[in-house]
Amino acid sequence: MKNFNFYNPTRIFFGKDETDKIGKLSKQYGDNVLLVYGKTAIKRNGLYDRVISRLKEENINVFELPGIDPNPRIESIREGGELCKKHKIDLVLAVGGGSVIDASKGIASAALYDGDPWDFYSYKEESKGALPIASILTLSATGSEMNAGSVVTNFATKEKNGWGSPFTNPKFSILDPVNTFSVSKHQTACGIVDALTHVYEFYFSSDQAYLNDRVCESIMKTVIHFGPIALKDPENFEARSNLMFSSTLALNGLSGFGKTWDGFNHTTEHLLSAYYDIAHADGLAILAPHWMDKILSKKTLNKFYEFAVNVWGVEESEDKMSVAKEGINRVYKFYEAIKMPLKLSDVEIIDPPLDELAKRATKNGTIGRYINLDYSDVLDILNKAL
Ligand code: NZQ
Ligand code: ZN
Repeated sequence: MKNFNFYNPTRIFFGKDETDKIGKLSKQYGDNVLLVYGKTAIKRNGLYDRVISRLKEENINVFELPGIDPNPRIESIREGGELCKKHKIDLVLAVGGGSVIDASKGIASAALYDGDPWDFYSYKEESKGALPIASILTLSATGSEMNAGSVVTNFATKEKNGWGSPFTNPKFSILDPVNTFSVSKHQTACGIVDALTHVYEFYFSSDQAYLNDRVCESIMKTVIHFGPIALKDPENFEARSNLMFSSTLALNGLSGFGKTWDGFNHTTEHLLSAYYDIAHADGLAILAPHWMDKILSKKTLNKFYEFAVNVWGVEESEDKMSVAKEGINRVYKFYEAIKMPLKLSDVEIIDPPLDELAKRATKNGTIGRYINLDYSDVLDILNKAL
């Protein structure tokens, strides 16, 4: 097991009706709250009214920044930062999915910065602080509710960059599975794939960490078990609960201890989103199975064998390569069954600039820390994904 340093300062309030704690919890940080949310979801499912009522009961002044886009834009971060300065905001409260929470982290940092917040996302400046951030999670997927990461797009430069600072972990997050009952089938499936891919990025590693592998397998098995149940029965509390906390654990540090992050799937997907504004997990579903095909070799055989047997329930056999291939085949079949795209053409990406994408993905020479892939490897994966 590699050395690691694990600290996660986000307090989680998990369960039905925990949402109602939002007033008292927010009040601990002051009287002025910036409520950040997306387009329509929380108004349609009643969560907006509930949150406003709880905040008003505590005489909190609520300022609002609605309309955060999926794949949040740098423009929203700039606007939110200005609102914080103007209204002397004490707490930035995200009510939404990963996009809203990610935006709130940028906004809370922009609030204490005089320059352009893109400086953080383009790694020009380090943040020296952020306003307190809190979240009410409405979509199980990214893990943003319990990590410091924030992924923001600058469509002007075709960049979608992940950034975080020691100040951007939410102080607390409310995980009430009932708030995810209204999530569409497609977004539910996206969440399933995102959580799985977060785990792949650590599970597929040459570092030996037996305990970590078992944690990763448990998360993957839980997601694979409960995902289809939630898709069939969106108000199944057990399924929504298990998906919710699995996706949190998939990227809160627990699935990664003692391991090196591979990064091929996320880095390449962020490029696709920056060019085509596709849903993050649509891109991941298209890339990951082709990436697995590409990196399966004698060197990675044992890992893929374990994956096939322990996660997908493939029967053990002396013909390890066939077992490993069947494991990858089950990934394709599962994604197909939950109606995720498997080809770029499935998300209407036709004739993409493959050369440019492969060059940008390998701008540091290679991509992927488990198996280093060069320009021609990435081109091959993208071609197979057409
Ligand atoms: O805009 P609204 O109306 O809120 O609708 C959203 C949006 O259309 C909808 N939704 C959310 N909760 C809902 C709901 N619809 C019905 N009922 C609810 N309860 O779902 C759509 C997608 O929302 P979004 O927040 O974009 O999805 P997700 O949580 O998957 O977040 C994706 C973003 O997070 C980034 C991605 O790159 C992408 O930009 N990521 C963030 C990470 C992190 N911070 O650690 C890691 C991830 O790998 C990822 O990169
Ligand atoms: Zn992801």
